[in-house]
Amino acid sequence: MKKSVMFLVFVILTLFTVSTAFAGAAKCPQKRKTKKAPSSLYKKDKTAKADAAAGKKIYVKTAKPMACKMCHGKKGDGGGKLGAALKPKPRNFRCAKTMKDVTPGQMFFIIKNGSKGTGMVPQKTLKDKDIWNVIKYIRTELMK
Ligand code: HEC
Repeated sequence: MKKSVMFLVFVILTLFTVSTAFAGAAKCPQKRKTKKAPSSLYKKDKTAKADAAAGKKIYVKTAKPMACKMCHGKKGDGGGKLGAALKPKPRNFRCAKTMKDVTPGQMFFIIKNGSKGTGMVPQKTLKDKDIWNVIKYIRTELMK
């Protein structure tokens, strides 16, 4: 009797450990239902002169109400601490298949306006310049 209880506890703990270890990365490919940016913005790209290092600060630390990494994960795979509880899941920037239609302008549109009804809220404290910086960081450091 005692042995079987111990075995059960062991199984539960193992399952728990395994599931938290893999709670990480969001699926790849991921279904994207995000609203599409108006075509002029969709094609816009101001990352050429943007500053990836400044963007990184926003991503890992300063964005309000929460740093992007809390949901999108430090590596950009959608595996942030809060991401696991969200539906839909945060975008997995590391998934090329998901990101192939996500232009810099599309990213700008969602970062600025949010995706209604999801965890992705409008980033009201970021100036346009900050947004291009964070986009540059994501595209040059995380989407590779
Ligand atoms: C509270 C969690 C959360 C935080 C914080 C967060 N996001 Fe998101 N993000 C999401 C979710 C959830 C989605 C998916 C929305 C959807 O599918 O409609 C998303 C989607 C996106 C997309 C995808 C746009 C597209 O069209 O596919 C981009 C780009 C993005 N986020 C950038 C950022 C940036 C940059 C920050 C920080 C300034 C940030 N997010 C902060 C949860 C978050």
